[in-house]
Amino acid sequence: MASGTSKRSEKKKNKKNPKPNQSWRTAETADRHELYELSVQNVEGEVELVQQFFSDLGEGVCSRIREDFCGTGQFSAAWAKSDPSRSAVGVDLDAEVLEWGRGKLEERLDEETQNRVELLEGDVLQVTGNPVDAVLATNFSYYLFKTRSELKNYFMTARKHIRPGGIFIMDAYGGSESFEEQEEERDLDGFIYVWDQNHYNPITGDVINHIHFRFPDGTEMNKAFTYEWRLWTLPELQELLLEAGFRSVNVYWEGTIEEGDEEGEGDGEFKQTRVGEACQGWIAYLVAQP
Ligand SMILES: C[S@@+](CC[C@H](N)C(=O)[O-])C[C@H]1O[C@@H](n2cnc3c(N)ncnc32)[C@H](O)[C@@H]1O
Repeated sequence: MASGTSKRSEKKKNKKNPKPNQSWRTAETADRHELYELSVQNVEGEVELVQQFFSDLGEGVCSRIREDFCGTGQFSAAWAKSDPSRSAVGVDLDAEVLEWGRGKLEERLDEETQNRVELLEGDVLQVTGNPVDAVLATNFSYYLFKTRSELKNYFMTARKHIRPGGIFIMDAYGGSESFEEQEEERDLDGFIYVWDQNHYNPITGDVINHIHFRFPDGTEMNKAFTYEWRLWTLPELQELLLEAGFRSVNVYWEGTIEEGDEEGEGDGEFKQTRVGEACQGWIAYLVAQP
């Protein structure tokens, strides 16, 4: 793909347009956690990616995972559901989102599967427990660590929670447009998702991003979520993972749709490579071996 083209998989959520009869959602009645899941997450796709990464780089079987910054725990639920031998522990600081997620577990999973998912309230830097086969830090949540020493400390902590032969999986985003202050809208199922790159400070690398939701009746859920992050780059992340003691770091880069309506966008297939493309927007995965 040539430099300057756009590539953005958005983790490939539904890109449906709101249909005229789908105007039941309004800012007042909608649930922000449900909208977040509908807009941002593609947990079934991510389960497949974890399997792919583990078969490439892990040893043995990947059964137990830890989902750091788990939010609603939707990935943990999908992981447990994908195979009866699998279990997950999700960790998040926010009691409110965890409570919402625990309520959802009952809807999403039968009783036996629910027993294989634990959603823990706690700080990813403090949580203890037996080492797992894989730790995941996705949806860029670890960008909240804004200095090299804070992020290295988190990577060292994550490493301690991974058994020998296990893996650490993170996603990252970037591209020329990620340094711009701009809004991007996507029409989804009866609502519009807005990714608002509200502020970027080139001196510190700090960004402030908001998620807003807009509805067919003209109402808006403004700043439904706000993230104050440092926009880390892939070379910085790879170096810090190695400094934190990981023995290897692999970058998985997304392929490109070559023709049709979505030409130039990400195709959802990630492959290990040392050469990326200078796209306007990209999402990649880093997979580190302890
Ligand atoms: C970008 S959201 C991602 C949520 C989740 N990964 C998802 O995809 O739905 C970031 C989450 O990290 C949590 N968080 C922030 N700092 C944390 C910490 N030190 N330990 C655990 N969770 C934390 C927040 O409460 C929030 O739910």
